[in-house]
Amino acid sequence: MVRRQFDSLAPVWDSMRLEDTFAPYDAALDELPEAPARILDVGTGTGAGALRLAQRFPEATVVGVDLSDEMLAQARRNTPAELQVTYRRADASALPYPDGSFGLAAHANMIPFFDEVARVVASGGHALFAFSSGAETPIYVPSKRLRQELARRGFTDFADVQAARGNALLARKGDPA
Ligand SMILES: C[S@@+](CC[C@H](N)C(=O)[O-])C[C@H]1O[C@@H](n2cnc3c(N)ncnc32)[C@H](O)[C@@H]1O
Repeated sequence: MVRRQFDSLAPVWDSMRLEDTFAPYDAALDELPEAPARILDVGTGTGAGALRLAQRFPEATVVGVDLSDEMLAQARRNTPAELQVTYRRADASALPYPDGSFGLAAHANMIPFFDEVARVVASGGHALFAFSSGAETPIYVPSKRLRQELARRGFTDFADVQAARGNALLARKGDPA
């Protein structure tokens, strides 16, 4: 059902984006202590987040995953050949990547699947959750809930940011006990 819903939204998705939609996502990226080498954009949609990541971290390998083939088709059309971005159809609740594969798992306006995020982010890596319209975002999880769920899974060093109409949280995955 989710796939069908976003397949049908794909043709108009980019036209619904405002200038400041990714301001919280960008502001949270500003908080990263260093450039990650491998980055996952979860629920990438038409790839706007993945593109920003590839432009911002040109040395990084960037992967965008989504359930919707139509969203992914648009993401591929939106991505200049010179940018290092790979798109893959994958379910965020069962990601097809080994444990500790990524230095950053970024989410823009996306449902968090906490167990999978915690599994694929390497120790010392980060998870980012951005909501373009704050509590008005159709898919919104309050920072308090994000912190609770992430802390239970070994994340620490939480940084909340506010930007434009929205907010984001950046968290670092601690070293194994
Ligand atoms: C609200 S859109 C956000 C798209 C993009 N991140 C943005 O902000 O423009 C949510 C996206 O997550 C995708 N999605 C929803 N559930 C998913 C899942 N379980 N696994 C992967 N992608 C999923 C949808 O297909 C859709 O493209």
